[in-house]
Amino acid sequence: MKITYGPLIFALGSLLLSCNQSGKKGGASEIQKSGIIKQFWGNIGNDSVFLYTLKNNGGTEIKISNYGGTITRFITKDKTGKVTGIVVGLDSLSDYLKNPPYFGALIGRYANRIGNASFTLDGKKYNLFANDGKNTLHGGKKGFDKVIWTPSIQNDSIPQLTLNYLSRDGEEGFPGNLSVTVTYTLNDSNELKIEYKAQTDKPTPINLTNHAYFNLSGNLENSILNHSLQINADNYTPVDSTLIPTGVIAPVKGTPYDFTQKKKIDQDFDKVKGGYDFNWVLNGEEGTLRKVAELSDSISGRTLEVYTTQPGLQFYTGNFLDGTFINYDGKPITLHSALCLETQHFPNSPNQPNFPSTILQPGKEFHSETIYKVIINQN
Ligand code: GLA
Repeated sequence: MKITYGPLIFALGSLLLSCNQSGKKGGASEIQKSGIIKQFWGNIGNDSVFLYTLKNNGGTEIKISNYGGTITRFITKDKTGKVTGIVVGLDSLSDYLKNPPYFGALIGRYANRIGNASFTLDGKKYNLFANDGKNTLHGGKKGFDKVIWTPSIQNDSIPQLTLNYLSRDGEEGFPGNLSVTVTYTLNDSNELKIEYKAQTDKPTPINLTNHAYFNLSGNLENSILNHSLQINADNYTPVDSTLIPTGVIAPVKGTPYDFTQKKKIDQDFDKVKGGYDFNWVLNGEEGTLRKVAELSDSISGRTLEVYTTQPGLQFYTGNFLDGTFINYDGKPITLHSALCLETQHFPNSPNQPNFPSTILQPGKEFHSETIYKVIINQN
């Protein structure tokens, strides 16, 4: 009898892999405070990485990993009561190690771009890693999206996950030991609140965000160009050919960047070379939590409201998505299949004295808050 080991090895391999993917080590997952489920997700070097499931009483389920603070699933009901995902997510931890374009991850120390990969602070020039042409994008070579955060769950009554990370003095070229705390909270009104706090021991630029890619329809085959969007911003920051703001604060009125009235994203899309990838200067006061954007999809009947204390919003139409990565449901993540609404300080602020300052001083605490609220229209 001829014995072939191939299928056996394959079956064993798949079993090991599926254990990893479902996040179960020894088949067990632990229930934590406020019903959060903690699952082992894999190892990176000697470190264990976990996946946390936060659920509310409104049928919403969010999975977050302490690898990159990444939101891997955001699942809600649609208008028919069907439960589907509204963010892009990969299947396994190993997929997230293949350098995806920041799907659902926390971004820092400096979200978006710093021009010429350098800045000068208090007379000293700091050189960063140029990972986007000659510029630094989303923190450099190994930003906060690629580090392992220390997780903790303090709250008994509401699903809330806290992640801590200490970015050492000189990490990615930035000055000061920066201690960062991000807390994700899901409430029964389908609001995901993300609270960011940080302290430093030397002055340093800081710009923190989350890079979730949304498609409210629950199906990446439906282009996000058919979603409707309103942004509460009378101005935006035009950019040069490398996507660095020119420093001008320009009015949106009469331009394709005018989203002050809700409109279909594709309405003026052909007038925007390469697609939307700009920072909008949000109306209202920085530091005050206010509603800044509203995104709707008629297929699913879902609306996403965005609230923030931040001064800016990067609206990005997934212009660099090209099908390289596959969503957890097997659908390729293709051009304009998802969009980002990244609350932030303006790109390249450390080199733009006329933009609101991003310098955190020792003895002060950085604080910002963003809420993504899902509303399901039943009719
Ligand atoms: C941000 C940037 C984009 C792009 C994506 C990640 O949204 O503004 O230009 O780099 O991140 O691919």
